Amino acid sequence: MTKYPFPFITLHWLTAVSVILAYLTSGDPTRAHSSLDALIGQLHVATGMLVFALVCVRVLLRLSLPMPPQTPSHPLLNKSASAAHLLLYLLLFLTPLAGWCKLSAKTTEFSALGWHLPLLPSPTSLLAALGNAHELIGNAFITLVGLHALAAIFHHVYLKDGVLQKMLPRRPL
Ligand code: HEM
Ligand code: HEM
Repeated sequence: MTKYPFPFITLHWLTAVSVILAYLTSGDPTRAHSSLDALIGQLHVATGMLVFALVCVRVLLRLSLPMPPQTPSHPLLNKSASAAHLLLYLLLFLTPLAGWCKLSAKTTEFSALGWHLPLLPSPTSLLAALGNAHELIGNAFITLVGLHALAAIFHHVYLKDGVLQKMLPRRPL
């Protein structure tokens, strides 16, 4: 069983932690009722933007490093895994972008943990629509992540075909 390259595995788990943190801190970052609220809003934006940065690097690595072949399984399982992975990549880009559009529509200035985030001065109607869909896209993304994690656990516990080990850094569990 060939594993994913170590830098790719690192990015996968760093991304997973950032996405979960972005989800746990989600809410309206421009409406803080207390300094804790403000910090949570800034964490949402910072972790969300980190997801965007990580996926950019990850796609470059995906295209330049050798990747393990898909683990042979039922053709329907293999096809749905490929489709789910493609959709996850799309949502890794789209969710933070939509959040950025939404934030641009709500405020002209935003600092996340000391970083002055550049915002769109006047989002076009398409970008404004994307921003309005941010919450829906974010929730769809988290649902797909949940299904993806369940599928990985199903492979590990029931099929025992080594799929999870491919994405773990060291020896098999
Ligand atoms: C993986 C990354 C992200 C996820 C999963 C995510 C998820 C969500 C979710 C589920 C909500 C709705 C919360 C609620 O009202 O209950 C939300 C709200 C919001 N998020 Fe994100 N978000 C992400 C990244 C970002 C980024 C990068 C930004 C800004 C640069 C952002 C800006 C916002 C804003 C402004 C709202 C309030 C929306 C509104 O008032 O309707 N998000 N986010
Ligand atoms: C926010 C959370 C996550 C995201 C966005 C995510 C995203 C992805 C993506 C896009 C791939 C495809 C990699 C490629 O071929 O380029 C992948 C593979 C994988 N992920 Fe995740 N993942 C997340 C969380 C998890 C969790 C929690 C688990 C385990 C419980 C997991 C287990 C795996 C495994 C085992 C693979 C390899 C699948 C294979 O080679 O067939 N992932 N993940």
